[in-house]
Amino acid sequence: MLLHVPGLFNRDEVLRIRQALEQAEWADGKVTAGYQSAKAKHNLQLAEDHPLAREIGAAIVERLWSNPLFMSAALPRKIFPPLFNCYTGGGSFDYHIDNAVRYVKGSPERVRTDVSTTVFFSDPDDYDGGELEIQDTYGVQRVKLPAGDMVLYPSTSLHKVTPVTRGARLASFFWTQSLVREDSQRALLFEMDNAIQKLTMDVPDHPSLIQLTGTYHNLLRRWVEV
Ligand code: NI
Repeated sequence: MLLHVPGLFNRDEVLRIRQALEQAEWADGKVTAGYQSAKAKHNLQLAEDHPLAREIGAAIVERLWSNPLFMSAALPRKIFPPLFNCYTGGGSFDYHIDNAVRYVKGSPERVRTDVSTTVFFSDPDDYDGGELEIQDTYGVQRVKLPAGDMVLYPSTSLHKVTPVTRGARLASFFWTQSLVREDSQRALLFEMDNAIQKLTMDVPDHPSLIQLTGTYHNLLRRWVEV
């Protein structure tokens, strides 16, 4: 399931974040790539322990935990500390699948990558190219979102970033280990949760809502890993 989550950050917040990122010192993105994906990766990245990455990363994670759409779709168990990249001057990242397990630097923490997220910090009009292309069950999806928005997609999918031929594309990316490992199960729960939310608005006193909500939790109980 591919999901666009709008407005994680508002306009003013995006401007402040972008200004800070533009002044940061960037390193070669190959340092966090695996052996194979290093050959496909041509971009810049902030060091994982860069104070700015830590600061903006913490702000992102805080927003995520209070974002109903993210919570419902990702059912997060743990979130990898967000990383930051910059594509410019023809930079790209060819088709690859992300590593299954990520190790948090300087900690014994490991995160199984179930859900991948990209948060966009550059306005789409300010750069050419830089589409995130994801091979989905229904074909290739091309994603280029307004600054402050994010996209969620299954980490099992093949994906790439097309060359940025004008301007720069600043973004954050990270992975979530979900309480529900399988994308198809998460998608069912997400659809059901959406339907329950809408019914709660439209017919709040309908007795079947209790049954439906119960069924949601009984399905989640069947699939959850805590
Ligand atoms: Ni990737």
